[in-house]
Order: sequence, then C-alpha cells, then structure tokens
Amino acid sequence: MKDVTDTARIQAEIIQAFNFRHATKVFDRDRKISEGEFETILEAARLSPTSFGHEPFKILMIQSQEKRELFREFSWGANGMMNGTTGQLGTASHFGIIVVNTAEAMTAGSAYLQDFYRNVKQLPEDVIEIFNGAYGKFQSTDHKITTDREMTDWAGKQAYIVLANMMTSAALMGIDSCPIEGFDMDRTTETLEKHFGIDSKHYKPAVMFAFGYRAADPQFPKTRRTMEDTVRWF
Ligand SMILES: Cc1cc2nc3c(=O)[nH]c(=O)nc-3n(C[C@H](O)[C@H](O)[C@H](O)COP(=O)(O)O)c2cc1C
Repeated sequence: MKDVTDTARIQAEIIQAFNFRHATKVFDRDRKISEGEFETILEAARLSPTSFGHEPFKILMIQSQEKRELFREFSWGANGMMNGTTGQLGTASHFGIIVVNTAEAMTAGSAYLQDFYRNVKQLPEDVIEIFNGAYGKFQSTDHKITTDREMTDWAGKQAYIVLANMMTSAALMGIDSCPIEGFDMDRTTETLEKHFGIDSKHYKPAVMFAFGYRAADPQFPKTRRTMEDTVRWF
C-alpha cells in the first residue's frame, strides 16, 4: 500500500521525468545504456496497450554503425544536419525503428490474426468468432479503416504509444531519447527490404528512435501551451 508521502514522491518523479525528457539531438558517444536498463525500456514497449490487443508492431534494433549509415542519406531528422554533427544516428547508444503490420495481417479475419488469437491470446474458438465480428465492424463501420494505407497508419498509432512508453520509462531512469519521423518513408522501406530482409508486404516503418545520454544540455528551454489552453473540462 502506498501512503500519502509515497504518492507525492511518485508524482514529483513523474513530472521531473517529463521535464527532463527532451528530443536529444546529440548523445554522448562514450556512454552506453546498460543491458538491464535497456531491457526495462523494451519491456515497457512489450507491455504497452494496443487497440484490440493486436500488438501490430515489431522493434528493429540497429546497433552496428555500418547498418545505421544505410539510413543517413534520407533520414534528415536523425543525422544532425541541423547542427553539423553526426546526430542521433552517429551518437546514440541505442537506435531503432518500429515497423508495423500492413493490411495483410491487420484485416479482420486474416490468417495472422486467427493465429495470434489462438496462440498468443489463447482464446477459445467461439470467442475468436466474436473478436472477428467486433473487429470487422470496428474497421469497416466505426473507424472506416479500409485501405492498406489506413490500416498501416492505424497500426502506426499503436507504435507511437509504444514509443511514448519507452521514452517515459527511459526518462524515469535518467536516460535520454529522441522520437524520429524525419526520414523518407519509401527509401526507408526499400532499405529495410534490401538490407534487413523486412518484407514490405508484411511490415512498413512507422517511427525511428534513439536512446542514450545527452552530450550537452538542451539548447532551448522547454515551451508548452498553458494547461488552460491544452485542456477543456465539461
Ligand atoms: C512523432 C515525433 C517525431 C519527431 N521527429 C523528430 C525528428 O525526426 N528529429 C528530431 O530531432 N526531433 C523529432 N521530434 C522531436 C520534436 O521536435 C520535439 O519533441 C518537440 O519539438 C518538443 O520538444 P521536446 O521533446 O524537446 O520537449 C519528433 C517528435 C515526435 C513526437
């Protein structure tokens, strides 16, 4: 049981972590995240919620510098072009890409989902039927997610929750991070296909990320809208 002092301490730690986290452009190359701490970050990813619990993502960790360089030319958000350094690609302790399932797996009734319900969720056949119906209606009627692009984008929304949890967990441990969307989608897809064996029929890139320890304090103070401007109560 948490007492009042514990709760106050946890609240302070959470807000401190959110103030500490900033989109880190350059990491200290000499400081590596320990295996145990990165395991915790990955476990936060794995335990993240996803719509219908479908877990439509995979995390690709890209640790060799040679492999990271394959992305540099078209990943302006990760290459330090803005500040003349080797950026997140060249300095992060850990760098990765979250790829998400395409329509091939995400369409209601797909072979992939039947297997997932049976073997991961361990659902009985009658419950699987209910799931197929409910998810089918959600896709076709409630959210009108019908094209391949819409399904991949919807899977991408789940990936962003995963990455948010990874970044917050890291910040709570004093570890820096950067979410990265600054890349050419087609060329990233091609590179993943050609050099990493990621079949684009099954997976498309959603977002990149970098983790490590900041090389310097943030250049600019954090700015945000006021709480009044951010939230409306009814
Ligand atoms: C989905 C997403 C994609 C982003 N892409 C990049 C990027 O490619 N490169 C980069 O340096 N920062 C990127 N950022 C960082 C944002 O610019 C940053 O979070 C925002 O300006 C607020 O600053 P702060 O995170 O330091 O508080 C991205 C942020 C998010 C959430």
